[in-house]
Amino acid sequence: MKASVVANKDYTISKIDDRVYGAFLEHLGRAIYEGIYEPDHPTADKDGMRGDVAKLVKDLNVPVVRYPGGNFVSAYNWEDGVGPREERPVRLDLAWHTSESNAVGVHEFADWCATVGTEMMLAVNLGSRGVDEARNFLEYVNHPGGSYWSDLRIKNGRKEPWNVKMWCLGNEMDGPWQVGHKDAHEYGKLAANTARAMRMFDKNLELIVCGSSNSDMQSYPDWERIVLEHTYDHVDHISLHMYFANRDNNTPNYLGLSEKLDTYIETVASTIKQVKAKRKSKKDVYISFDEWNVWYHSNKKDREILDGNGGWPHAPGLLEDIYNFEDVLMVGLILNTFIRRSDVVKIACIAQLVNVIAPIMTEKGGPAWAQTIYYPYFFASVFGRGTALQLVTNSPGYETTHAKDTAYVDVSGVHNEEEGTLSFFLVNRHTSESIETEVSLQGFAGGTVIDHQVMTHPDLKAVNTARNQDEVKPKKGEDAKVEGGKLSVKLPPYSYQMVRVK
Ligand code: AHR
Repeated sequence: MKASVVANKDYTISKIDDRVYGAFLEHLGRAIYEGIYEPDHPTADKDGMRGDVAKLVKDLNVPVVRYPGGNFVSAYNWEDGVGPREERPVRLDLAWHTSESNAVGVHEFADWCATVGTEMMLAVNLGSRGVDEARNFLEYVNHPGGSYWSDLRIKNGRKEPWNVKMWCLGNEMDGPWQVGHKDAHEYGKLAANTARAMRMFDKNLELIVCGSSNSDMQSYPDWERIVLEHTYDHVDHISLHMYFANRDNNTPNYLGLSEKLDTYIETVASTIKQVKAKRKSKKDVYISFDEWNVWYHSNKKDREILDGNGGWPHAPGLLEDIYNFEDVLMVGLILNTFIRRSDVVKIACIAQLVNVIAPIMTEKGGPAWAQTIYYPYFFASVFGRGTALQLVTNSPGYETTHAKDTAYVDVSGVHNEEEGTLSFFLVNRHTSESIETEVSLQGFAGGTVIDHQVMTHPDLKAVNTARNQDEVKPKKGEDAKVEGGKLSVKLPPYSYQMVRVK
């Protein structure tokens, strides 16, 4: 089987916003406690943060981390997490039916972000709280000093303001599971008022309003339209979430889910345009896809705690999906979609980063390791920076429940002009056939293959564990070559690859 791709230097989609490779950390399960923070761990630094985890995060070059939730934020009092640790209250977290010690709050998270070299993206609570909490939190975090909240921050040990730019106006407010869930008009009005107040403090903030929790919600896509009609002039991004699952063990169909993602993005982009036109506005609003990942492996195991039968444990092992090789392909496809939609998707966050539906896993007191999905995320984040190319791909395809014709070969291409590199990320969705793929490099000066990484595995369900961390990992490819302005590469069945040319 064969496929062809045309990459032309002048046919571009957009400069990719680096923040499309962001991540998310919530006070949920063992994401924070035993994830990034474990004071008794042999690798812990003076702040109790795990050094082995920080190293794995640093290697990913994560540009931004969204915090502290998620569903958790909708009943969170940020004040509980500041001040002397021994005086911080233990609270019941209604979202995940657990106890929250508040040992980690915004100070500890900010210090950790500095350690791993990432930017904070904070969420305010618009579930159980509103405008007042948001303005106070903003003043605490961003005001230099001389006011009640900024002086409290200084008293609590942080002199300089953090100057956090990105703020989420609540989380998944369309979801009936959300504490303080609202309908689109109620939420739209509250979000607009909160945004107005926050902008009175600083008109240059980047504000993110909640879109739908997923495209299967009853209220989708009217939710987006109504919320944007209330908030269009006051926000910069609308947030979308989507989780991917292979519940019926149908791999071809599972891998077709990126078509559903693409349609979701396209629909919301059109809704943004509709509201823009209606308002006769010159301003643009973009998409912040601030929760995405595969999530289903752990569902059954979590039920007991989520139903309340497991009591109110502190940091139980919730949402600990163990990812397999098949999920590598899915994550590669999701990232390809974001690259191809980089004209409208400006922020995206893998949900989440450590232990909770995450590329990084830890054992209490033991090792931290890379799950299978760490690798496609790593390759895209580290090498997928630059300009997205408008590729023309010709590949045979197949039908799924999500789309009539899904190409076997899915590819995205990134041109980094400064470095003079071209990076291609390729997935072969075919069950049994290798696909000879030729990429015509138009307008690029010659070049040779400088890196070729291949991920294949005879067992789609193979996983990495604490004791067998390297079962699924990339290997150097050998057959990619550039000749006569054409890159040729063979894609084995069910494979992920990165090929870089310079
Ligand atoms: O990431 C896990 C949860 O998924 C988040 O808390 C919530 O926003 C979403 O439903």
